[in-house]
Amino acid sequence: MKTNILVIGSGISGLTYAIKVAGLNPQLNLVIISKNNLLESNTKYAQGGIAVVSNFQKDSFDKHVQDTLTAGAGACDEAVVRFVVEEGHERLNELIEWGAQFDTKSNSNGLHLTREGGHSEKRIVHHKDKTGLEIQKSLIKKIKTFSNISLLENHTLVDLITDHHTGTDYKRCYGAYVISNLKQEIIKISAQITVLSTGGAGQLFSHTTNPKNATGDGLGAAYRAKVFMEGLPFVQFHPTALYPKINGNTFLISEAVRGEGGILKTLSGDEFMLEYHEKADLAPRDIVARSIAEVVNESQDPYVLLDCSAISEDDFQNQFPTIKENCQKIGINPPEDAIPVIPAAHYFCGGIRVNQQGESQLKGLYAIGECSHTGLHGANRLASNSLLESLVFSHRAALDSLKQITGSLPPKEFYDAIPDWEGEQQISDLKISSIGKMKKQLQKLMTSKVGIFKTSQGLTEAELELKNIFLETRDIYQQNKLTLGICELRNMVSVAYLMIKQSQDLKKNKGVFYNHDYVE
Ligand code: SIN
Repeated sequence: MKTNILVIGSGISGLTYAIKVAGLNPQLNLVIISKNNLLESNTKYAQGGIAVVSNFQKDSFDKHVQDTLTAGAGACDEAVVRFVVEEGHERLNELIEWGAQFDTKSNSNGLHLTREGGHSEKRIVHHKDKTGLEIQKSLIKKIKTFSNISLLENHTLVDLITDHHTGTDYKRCYGAYVISNLKQEIIKISAQITVLSTGGAGQLFSHTTNPKNATGDGLGAAYRAKVFMEGLPFVQFHPTALYPKINGNTFLISEAVRGEGGILKTLSGDEFMLEYHEKADLAPRDIVARSIAEVVNESQDPYVLLDCSAISEDDFQNQFPTIKENCQKIGINPPEDAIPVIPAAHYFCGGIRVNQQGESQLKGLYAIGECSHTGLHGANRLASNSLLESLVFSHRAALDSLKQITGSLPPKEFYDAIPDWEGEQQISDLKISSIGKMKKQLQKLMTSKVGIFKTSQGLTEAELELKNIFLETRDIYQQNKLTLGICELRNMVSVAYLMIKQSQDLKKNKGVFYNHDYVE
């Protein structure tokens, strides 16, 4: 396939970017690759909302900037924080124009705002407890109105096409090899501009709020293409995921539940957050997650409780219908019953280093959303700043790529001559089951040694054990036909490796990064 622009990933970042470009230049062709169906992305699972300053009587850009910098623990890029916060309002209005609906205050047209940890004001714009789903549905509706966008569902990124494949020296990205999940065939898609919006890799851990497809495909491919990445040790664990899993998936309990009055308690009914932070249950997310993990470790109880009795039955039903429905699946009926919760891997604050227009250090390759590292989140993302970042950076990246695509690019014949993917062997059933086992082994390793609490010794042990998994994965990769399972495992191993190495290089605790050996 050939296209002007290839977008890999169909969450808020990829879709917003494509809508912008396709609308501004109808002459360009775009292809969007979606790993499952268009709806299934990390965005779909975002409950809380978008942090945007809207109530200018009480709130201000300065306050939102300050909250973001404080949560980010001194590691944010202040210039980026400022423009993201200031441009958010316009981007939100655009989303509303495209059809997304957000909750309004009763008796008014003004937006209903809720609060989450680390925010000094109520500023989270939301659609009940399914903001991501609402956004995703409206973007999909909009995207289908463009005849210059082709959608390729059930396809997964294998590798980015670079000079390594073409034997040239333009130092650019030329598209990607992708695998069709169903036929397991590799397709070459050449493109003048390639956009990664592939999300994070929560599946590296045993408990994650991310869907099954969050295996770090963009990060793994970028690593192999030698694209600069940073901040990978800053994996944010969400404090409250429902315990136990439902059908093998960990369900998120939005921080907005605490924003509306939910209180964390031990199984004996004692509140504990005030012992850890003056803002108690609304302390920054890293502190709440670590506090819960500590209570669980010390008590040996498998979870703590989120007491929602301060929220009325009607308010809970109105604002958190999806949470209620999922709790009921395990026999819990909030707000009457307290919700059993544990922390779970939630968000990668680090990723592919990009400039203020979302372009990586490899020309022609943009990264937007969770797979990128823009400097907004620093060492700990402020709640609901991620959808905001996606909107602002999709807009900037779209304008920048439109400029780039009319500039000087390799000749057309060059794209025609890009080689096809090589490799034909068959894979045996035995190998397929060992891939599944290795994924589980990797998740266990990362959870125990590279999770919320780390030690230097644990990181060394993790590196050694990872090497065995890497060697086995490499053998399977080299000796067999490529399958989706191998691609995912290969990416997970690459991201785990980078995370461990970058964690070893960090010599100070910061934000979500916590090594017991550095505690003074
Ligand atoms: C939540 O609803 O608690 C998640 C929001 C976020 O991660 O930004």
